[in-house]
Amino acid sequence: MRISIQKAAELLNQGGVVAVPTETVYGLAASLHHEKAVEQIFALKGRPANNPLIIHLAQAEELRRYASSLPDGLEMLQKNFWPGPMTLVLPVFADAIASKIRAGLPTAAFRIPMHPKARELLALTGPLVMPSANLSGSPSATSSEHVEADFGKDFPVLDGGPCSKGLESTILLFKTARWCIIRQGALTAEALEPVLGYAPVIEKADVTAPICPGQLYRHYAPKAHLRIAKSIPEDFTGTVLGYDGRHYPRHARVIKLGHLHASEDVAKNLYQNLRQLDLNGVGEALVDFDIPEEGLWQTIRERLLKASQK
Ligand code: TXA
Ligand code: MG
Repeated sequence: MRISIQKAAELLNQGGVVAVPTETVYGLAASLHHEKAVEQIFALKGRPANNPLIIHLAQAEELRRYASSLPDGLEMLQKNFWPGPMTLVLPVFADAIASKIRAGLPTAAFRIPMHPKARELLALTGPLVMPSANLSGSPSATSSEHVEADFGKDFPVLDGGPCSKGLESTILLFKTARWCIIRQGALTAEALEPVLGYAPVIEKADVTAPICPGQLYRHYAPKAHLRIAKSIPEDFTGTVLGYDGRHYPRHARVIKLGHLHASEDVAKNLYQNLRQLDLNGVGEALVDFDIPEEGLWQTIRERLLKASQK
């Protein structure tokens, strides 16, 4: 159910849950100050309680109320990439943020989104926690239709059109005197490097000592079974997730993710394409993985790998 910004603010301020557009993906929003609504988010998504939420702010100055230390480079990152698809994990004053939101961690994740509707809403509500607005494990929602597909037609959605980035924010953590990437996202390592003065290390998910709990779970996956393929045999007759302008076996059914020279378009439409597989009743598909490794492709590769995990 599409609702106005005023209605969304009213519902959130009364302790409701509303889906909200951001430039990355749609978020399932609750007020930072309504614990029941926060609990409802975990229940609605089927999200494990040990997976913390990102706090969305209207202004960078608000951080000072929550963060117990402001690491080197923080200001440069904020100046260059906020508002935008960057999330920063910072140590926080424990009594400033409910433990549920942090999943009991001594840190919390913060982001200032760029989407005009998200910004307008945040100005009316104050800080909002927002995980991606999808059922836990499924591809994230990049349009109001995706939100409705997961949560039903009656679920309140602030419609902001299709998301311009289409991939989640990049999450950074300050560790041993450097910022590192703990979740790849719409902001690339290449874009961060000149601002930081070094190439941020991309941390791999570590089951024994997770620093980004969400990275441990199966993610972004359609019901269709995806298989990563470096090459595709000429006699293949099934479904392929492929790219424009590339040759595929004659009898294969090819779903095009976009052009190899247009990573931003591939990113923008990725979750839509994954969701479409299920709508088309595709049971299994090969993923053409002969793709570039730099820039946004790094994130696209990570998402395709995750989506193909069983
Ligand atoms: O683009 C985005 O970031 C979207 C939009 C709505 O802003 N949100 C999003 O939220 O992707 P979610 O809940 O789907 O992913 C949040 C990720 C999870 O992997 C979680 O483990 C991690 O952020 N996270 C949150 N707080 C953390 C913390 N204190 N330390 C480490 N990781 C944290
Ligand atoms: Mg998510």
